[in-house]
Formats: sequence, structure tokens, C-alpha cells
Amino acid sequence: MTSTGTLAVPATAASRSRRRLGIGVIGFGWLGQAHSRSMLRIPTLFEDREFDPQLVVCADAVPGRADDAVRSFGFEHGTQDWRRAMDDPDVDIVVIAAPNMLHVELIDAACAAGKAIFCEKPVGGTPEQTVHAERTARHAGVITGVGYNYRWAPLVRYVAELIERGELGDITNYRGRFFSMYGADPLGLLSWRFRVEEGGHGASSDLLSHALDLGQLLLGPITRLVGTTETFIRERPLPGAGGASHYGRGTAGDPTGPVTNEDYAALLCEFAGGARGSFEASRAIIGPESQMAFEVYGTEGALAWNLERMNELELYLAGPEPQDLVDMCRRTHQAQGRAVRLVPTWSSVLGPEAAGNALLPGSAARIAPTTFDEWLATVRSTA
Ligand SMILES: NC(=O)c1ccc[n+]([C@@H]2O[C@H](COP(=O)([O-])OP(=O)(O)OC[C@H]3O[C@@H](n4cnc5c(N)ncnc54)[C@H](O)[C@@H]3O)[C@@H](O)[C@H]2O)c1
Repeated sequence: MTSTGTLAVPATAASRSRRRLGIGVIGFGWLGQAHSRSMLRIPTLFEDREFDPQLVVCADAVPGRADDAVRSFGFEHGTQDWRRAMDDPDVDIVVIAAPNMLHVELIDAACAAGKAIFCEKPVGGTPEQTVHAERTARHAGVITGVGYNYRWAPLVRYVAELIERGELGDITNYRGRFFSMYGADPLGLLSWRFRVEEGGHGASSDLLSHALDLGQLLLGPITRLVGTTETFIRERPLPGAGGASHYGRGTAGDPTGPVTNEDYAALLCEFAGGARGSFEASRAIIGPESQMAFEVYGTEGALAWNLERMNELELYLAGPEPQDLVDMCRRTHQAQGRAVRLVPTWSSVLGPEAAGNALLPGSAARIAPTTFDEWLATVRSTA
């Protein structure tokens, strides 16, 4: 079938009144590209949006990366100097996706320029830097957000609702973990993540922070803890000029340098509500690929969730199952007793926001994105 002519689409009231929000992205590696891609998708996902993002400037220290941002993603400008994003009056929001130990300098500059800031976790490489970042943003009065993305998974939101409704009874204990294999190969290059000078802390900032964000989202603040850390792979091959991603590989016999932060972190803790918890994170583990997971145990039920099977929830309830749960799930597996593996019938291809709304009408606003002050409360209780 062929067609000729153009289709005139009348502007709706919403499209006429939409605000344009200029975006500056700093760091165009894995996450800088992911956020830019998401900005481009906003118009295709949210018809009733009140703003239109506009990719204004992308800054990356590696020559060529910002040029690619212009060529492939449609940014208006590319630069190696991040100050250009702070100075540009067309930039309303700065997205910080550079290595952790640069976060504070970038946040200071963005605050001075009065920009809203979306900073990737962990907001600085040390707890002291997070304290500084939160204070600076609060004094500047700018809007902040942090990239704790797993709290937006539809079933995580549903778990929060089950706990809040008391379906699990009183929560007695919680287990959280983030096991990733990205550093399991001793030939993995010594990228910024493995160096305290650039990454700050290791697995505790990079991975455990995600698990703690979810633990405190679901159960509330942690009040006491004891922890341990270890570095299992103490030397890694040096990257060439231009740095390396954390999936880059060297070869045996390459010159090496010391790993200066931890591969593993774990803690035992008490929540303010009385529950006990344990958390573990490793970036050098064989087996799990990206196992961001938790288990919650209560006096009337228990559940488990794992990012690797993000649209499944393992649930055990001593009492009858809530009707909304029965309605939205089909049982695919009957394990021992009343423990069931539940797979919601909606498709994961809907994306988190659409799927979350489909799953829980009206619940979209219940879990807000993390802000600097909220994240600082977590850092304070666990540092
Ligand atoms: N929320 C999540 O799930 C998640 C996942 C991965 C990474 N992160 C966070 O995102 C941030 C970036 O991580 P990544 O995996 O994208 O790293 P990456 O190494 O892939 O990218 C970092 C980019 O920053 C650039 N850069 C370095 N110094 C710079 C400077 N002075 N000015 C401008 N750019 C500079 C590098 O050239 C690189 O392109 C980190 O804070 C990390 O903790 C979050």
C-alpha cells in the first residue's frame, strides 16, 4: 500500500502548552547514553506529558564521544568541557553520569548555575561527599533526583503495597543482595570503578547502595549495623589511553595496577521498625549475572523478588490470597505447601511506567524517585 500527501495532526491543548526542558548530559558512557535514549523516548511513551525534553549539550572527556552524541542522538552541541553545560542558558536539567568522584564538583557547579540535577547513584564516591552534595543542593534550592531505578520495577511497587497493607503481618527479617559478575574475571581492566581515586568506595557504593535503597524503601530506616568488606582480586590489567568500560578485558602478561576499593561488602542490621536484616553485594562473583534481589519475611507471609526474573514474585501467605493478586496473576508453578510463583499476566514489554500503572491503577505517585536528602538519610544510617 502506498500513500501520498501529509496527515495534518491538530495540536492538542496539552501539546500547545508543553514546556520545553533543555537537557545537558555529562558523561556519555553506559548511563549517559541510557538516560539520553530515555529522554528521546519520552514523547513516544507519554502522550499527556507536560514537557518536551530537548537534548541541548553532551559533555564527555573522551574525544569523539560527545561528537557521537550529536551525530547519533541529536544533541545540539558536543564538548569535552562539562562547564559548557553549566554555562548554557538553554540547559534546565543537568544529568550527571560521570565517574563517582567527579559528582560533587559537577553538583557544585550545577547548583551555582541554578540547574535542576539528576545525578546517578551513589552521589559522590564517599558518604562525606554525599553529605556535601545534599547540603549544597538544599541551600541552592534546586530540584534533585538520584538513579535508584530498581524501585520502579512494577513488582517492587506491588511488594511495597503488600507490606503497607499488612498482607505479610509484622515484618521479622529481610535479606537484600546485589551479586554482579562484572568484576569476576581477573583480566577485567582496571577501569575507574576499581580505583578509590575515581570511583570512591567499590561494591558498597556501586551495588550495595541499590540493595539498601530498596530495603529502606520497603521497611523504613536502618538504625544499627555491623559490616565487612574484602577485595578478592587485588591487581588488574591497566587500560589504554581513553579509559575502559567495566566490561573491558586485558590479556595475561599485560602491565597491571592495584585495585584500591572493595569487591565485596556485607552487613547485618536492625530496622527502626524492629525487623532484622542482612545485605550482601559482590562485583566479583561467579554465577549470578545481575542478581539484585530481596526476601521479606513476616508473621503472616513471605516473598522473594529477583531482578533476573523481574516479572515474577515468589509469595507465601498463611491466610487467603488478596483478590487483586489472584485477579492479576496466573500460577505457573506450585511449590511446597502454599508457596507459589506468581507471574502477572501483563507483558513486560509495556515498560515499567505503563506496566506499573496497568498493575496498580492510581498507584503511580505512591513511590517517588529518590532525592538527594532522601538518599543522604540512607547514607547516614549505613555509613
Ligand atoms: N542506576 C544504575 O543502575 C547505574 C548503572 C550503571 C552506572 N551507574 C552510575 O552512572 C555513573 C556512570 O557510570 P557508567 O557505567 O555510565 O560509566 P562509564 O565509564 O560507562 O561512563 C562514564 C563516562 O564519563 C566520562 N567522563 C569521565 N571523566 C569525565 C569528565 N571530566 N567530564 C565529562 N565526562 C567524563 C567517561 O569518558 C565515560 O564516557 C556512575 O556514577 C555509576 O555509579 C548507575
